[in-house]
Order: sequence, then C-alpha cells, then structure tokens
Amino acid sequence: MTDVQNAREALVWQLEAGIDECIGEAPVNRLAEADAGAAAETDVASESRPAGRAARRIESRPEEVPAPAVQTEVPGVQSAWDLAAACSSVEELEAAVRGFEECALKKTATNTVFSDGNPTAKVMFVGEAPGADEDRQGKPFVGPSGKLLDKMAASIGLDRTSFYITNIVFWRPPGNRNPTTNEIALCLPFVERHIELIDPDILIPLGGPAAKTLLGVQLGITRLRGKWQTYQSKNLAAPIDVMPFLHPAYLLRSPAAKKDAWHDLLAIKDKLKAG
Ligand code: URA
Repeated sequence: MTDVQNAREALVWQLEAGIDECIGEAPVNRLAEADAGAAAETDVASESRPAGRAARRIESRPEEVPAPAVQTEVPGVQSAWDLAAACSSVEELEAAVRGFEECALKKTATNTVFSDGNPTAKVMFVGEAPGADEDRQGKPFVGPSGKLLDKMAASIGLDRTSFYITNIVFWRPPGNRNPTTNEIALCLPFVERHIELIDPDILIPLGGPAAKTLLGVQLGITRLRGKWQTYQSKNLAAPIDVMPFLHPAYLLRSPAAKKDAWHDLLAIKDKLKAG
C-alpha cells in the first residue's frame, strides 16, 4: 500500500471510530499522558479537602458517602483558588476565567463559555460543559439541550432574564467527551466563587457531573434528583437550596424521564412561590 493509501485508510478508521474534528497540528502521545494522569489522579484522590475551603453540607443526603477531595495537587489549581478568591464581582471573575491558561481545554476550544442570563436572578443553573454550539457562540446552553432547558424553564415562568446559567467547566471538551477530574478541579475555584457572587436562592445542577461536583457526593443523578439539598461555601452568608436536575441532553435521549423532570420543576416552582 502507498503512503497515501495508508493515510486514507487511517482517516477512514478514525471517522468510523467517531472522531469528528482535528484539535491540533501535531500528534500527541495520549498513552504517555494517560500514565501520568492516572498517577496524578491517584495522588489527588487521597487528598483531603483543605480546611477553610468551601465545606458542603447536604441536609437530606440519601446515603453517606465521602465528599470528593479538592485537588490541590493538580498543577494550576492553587493559582485558580487564589485568582478566584481575589474577585469581588462577576465581571472580575469573568476576566479572571478568560485570562486563566492552566486548563488544557482552553487550548482546543474556540471560545470561553462563561455564563448567560441575569446575574441578579434567584435561580442559577450549573451544567456540565459547553458543546459545539456553545463553543461557537461563547454562551452556555444555546444548542438543542439549551432549547429544551429554555422550554422547561418557561413552563414555570422563568427565562434568561429571570435565571442565570453557567457550567462546571468553561471550555468545550474535544469531541464532547466528559470533562476529566483534573479539568473540573481547575475550574472549580471559579465555579465556587461564581456561586458566591451570584448567591442565588436556588441552585440547580444539571446532570450527574455538575451535581456530584457541587454536592461533593458520588451518587448518580437519578438518585440525587428530586430531593432538596443544600450547598454551602466559605463566603456564603447562608446555605443555598439545591435541586439536582436531570440533564436536558439526557431528557432528549430518554423522553420517558421527562415526568421526573416535570415533578422537579414543580418543586422548584413551589419553592420560588414560597419565597
Ligand atoms: N450541555 C451542558 O452541560 N452545557 C452547555 O452549555 C451545553 C450543553
């Protein structure tokens, strides 16, 4: 086979494997990275959360599970905590996130996706990670999941003038893969500060990764959803009510779960009405 035929075969193989975009000019040895990453994650998992950082409390935790460790060993995490702590407004925080170069996701993303909606809103959604549409437009939840989310929110009288929305990572993971624990750890200081600065009445993590990250638990979203919990961090005057919610992308794939989502929407509506 000629070199050209070999190259064509390799491309066809990649397309069939689901690779849909090119993220760099030079090849990267992911096997070497995986070895280094696994070692780092093992170290990180045995770390305990440093005193004085956000401490979360879950009032109706369905099962006792250890809170995940804050990953101070990940290079760049301490600088993220320091940068985030120095921000005293959402604008400052957005500038800090845009200027933050330690998260590798930024290198492959087109845009930083910081937030959308009303920063004085009572309701704050936190999703998982920007997708292709969000990466292109630089705004969270503007693709098919976002359209469904907007419809669900509208059914209880909310829109982007009355809710605020962000994600647990600010850049699109290549090919829409899940963000890694290190990527989440690098964004978490900004996410925690974001929540403190918005200080909503109700916090709604969308999907398992967001719920687990914010609540510090390992339970899946189908176990967490539908039960009010609370979120607390160092600089919050009072804990925030949390309703973990099924991710709209999951609801698009599993329409039968929409009845659970409807149940949870009504719980949110009642809580808002009760003030
Ligand atoms: N899914 C997410 O979790 N966040 C977005 O911004 C878009 C899709």
